[in-house]
Amino acid sequence: MACFRTSARLCRQFLFSNSPKTNLSAVYSPPRWMSTGKYEYIIVEKKGEKNNVGFIQLNRPKALNALCAGLMSELDQAVKSFETDNDVGCIVLTGSERAFAAGADIKEMQTKEFSEVWRGNFLSEWDSLSRCSKPVIAAVNGFALGGGCEVAMMCDIIYAGDKAQFGQPEITLGTIPGAGGTQRLCKAVGKSKAMEMVLTANRITAEEAEKAGLVSKVVPAVDLVNEAIKTAEKISSFSKIAAAMCKEAVNAGYEMSLKEGLHFEKRLFHASFASNDRREGMTAFAEKRPPQFTDS
Ligand code: CAA
Repeated sequence: MACFRTSARLCRQFLFSNSPKTNLSAVYSPPRWMSTGKYEYIIVEKKGEKNNVGFIQLNRPKALNALCAGLMSELDQAVKSFETDNDVGCIVLTGSERAFAAGADIKEMQTKEFSEVWRGNFLSEWDSLSRCSKPVIAAVNGFALGGGCEVAMMCDIIYAGDKAQFGQPEITLGTIPGAGGTQRLCKAVGKSKAMEMVLTANRITAEEAEKAGLVSKVVPAVDLVNEAIKTAEKISSFSKIAAAMCKEAVNAGYEMSLKEGLHFEKRLFHASFASNDRREGMTAFAEKRPPQFTDS
């Protein structure tokens, strides 16, 4: 593992460090040519100096990016299209400056009946984001409430703008979180804080979220998307096979005992020896040169 760390350190040495700052107004007010194309509720682009970052922006500003069925279906399509795009090594998901997402669309849910949501397994289609094999970074500005907080938690890394607020207010609507708010939140922040959030609907700030372990970094709102893209570019520069293995191993740990998780990790580590990228990474280290990963 020490070799991997050193190899990673070598990689870092030749990674870009001066990518141009993303102008927030440009990110949040897309120019006309970037019109959503086949998408109505999201903006989808490739970003980064090498165009290797899949960028998805939730774009339903009047409804604070409430997650209606159409938006979630488009998000699913966009994630799947980046999943099969060989150039893309990491995905960034963001919202607007005011809201990452204010939850599932309450007006759309308002008239649904028990039999309909039960038989249709309502919200099960949301799970596809968490099945993406490529790393996904949520860049959260503003409200991440209910389903918004849950979608952020389906991502692998959460960066927050300094004005972000996280909460699970479903109890105020007479219901409960339905897309991971009682499960992933508990694993992220522990039982007491998760219970408090779910039972009181109290929101936590970006700083509290970082302290609790829900988010990994808080940055000024204006820098958030750029920070996320920088991290995504860095991840994209490594072997996509290794990145997928890292992600799979960490996520598997959520579902397994420590013993099973350690065994699974060891077997994936062994499997990495079948890849050209593992050979290249170690050879490059020994030859004191940057590695040229081929994702093979
Ligand atoms: N669904 C549908 N529309 C929503 C919405 C939501 N979740 N959140 C906000 N909107 C709409 C509002 O209805 C309003 O639309 P109109 O202008 O047409 O009236 C618009 O967005 C702006 O919202 P507000 O006027 O309420 O803005 P505000 O600044 O006063 O308040 C807010 C912002 C605190 C986020 C407030 O909008 C709010 O509390 N939203 C609901 C949050 C919530 O309860 N989320 C949980 C949803 S249930 C869920 O997500 C279940 C699950 O687990 C998947």
